[in-house]
Amino acid sequence: MLHYRFQPNALVEQSKILVKRLPDRDDRGKALNFAVFLLRDSLDVAENLWRGVRHGGTCIPNRHASIQRDIMIKLFHVTKQYRPEVPPALEDVNLTLEDGEFVYLVGASGAGKSTLLKLILMQEFPTHGEVVVAGFTTAGMTRKKILTLRRRVGMVFQDFRLLQDRSVFENVALPLRLFGNYSDYQIRDRVNNVLDQVGLGHKDEAFPTELSGGEQQRVALARAISNRPFVLLADEPTANLDPYTSEDIINTIRRIHKAGTSVILATHKMELVENSGERYVRLDNGTIVEDWVDPLRGVAAR
Ligand SMILES: Nc1ncnc2c1ncn2[C@@H]1O[C@H](COP(=O)(O)OP(=O)(O)OP(=O)(O)O)[C@@H](O)[C@H]1O
Ligand SMILES: [Mg+2]
Repeated sequence: MLHYRFQPNALVEQSKILVKRLPDRDDRGKALNFAVFLLRDSLDVAENLWRGVRHGGTCIPNRHASIQRDIMIKLFHVTKQYRPEVPPALEDVNLTLEDGEFVYLVGASGAGKSTLLKLILMQEFPTHGEVVVAGFTTAGMTRKKILTLRRRVGMVFQDFRLLQDRSVFENVALPLRLFGNYSDYQIRDRVNNVLDQVGLGHKDEAFPTELSGGEQQRVALARAISNRPFVLLADEPTANLDPYTSEDIINTIRRIHKAGTSVILATHKMELVENSGERYVRLDNGTIVEDWVDPLRGVAAR
């Protein structure tokens, strides 16, 4: 096993404070899960983070490592096989996403949507082929680079994954507290800004239990974009919501996209995609069977 040393900086201090404030074991477990989600990395890294344990070596997200916004996401002949005895979850997938694009990822259950998102997040690695995200390539990743990358990839899930004992404000502020050396003023400014963006500026003091499902998902979206990601990955963000609320979430995601964030939105709800005019990529049994782009796209802008 690799060993990491968390340097004595704000990240460790903040995580210790956060864990101490949690009243019971259950909440600590949830916080740990949340750290795993934030770091999207192995449990040992998250545990070390939350305990502030120090080992030899170094592993600290480098705020100054460059992320090239202009480079698109690329999958080159990607095959992902979880187990040798079963067919691959993805097979020879080629996909390019330009900076600033909005793409729906559609396909039946088991088609490989979540796997594709996990590969972009570098939570999983391809069995064959290569994934390039904002200039980071799976062929040359180190643990340190992975953390740098993940800090700038926003992710939302169908089950929101909010900390129940934290206010809306604190849920959204958490990535900023964990990943940056921001002042309280900067955090307040940024959190208020993203909450306004998702239309929840007035709910900053509420707790997740006091919110509707749609509002909770909007908090999750605010949290995902708080660190200014270059891409937002949404894995079935409307699966637990009624049609009216789903539309509201999709509109919120579109607003986030218009403000300059690339988006990949996985869904099996074809009705969301049809007639949307947006590009969609359809997976079937691990292969891309359709990659539809409006042939008139960009024409009006010329
Ligand atoms: N960790 C894993 N280990 C083994 N097999 C896996 C793992 N994760 C996914 N799979 C398999 O890979 C295939 C694709 O799964 P994936 O979760 O990517 O599909 P999906 O399109 O997101 O489905 P859904 O719409 O149900 O979320 C499935 O056959 C699934 O059983
Ligand atoms: Mg899935």
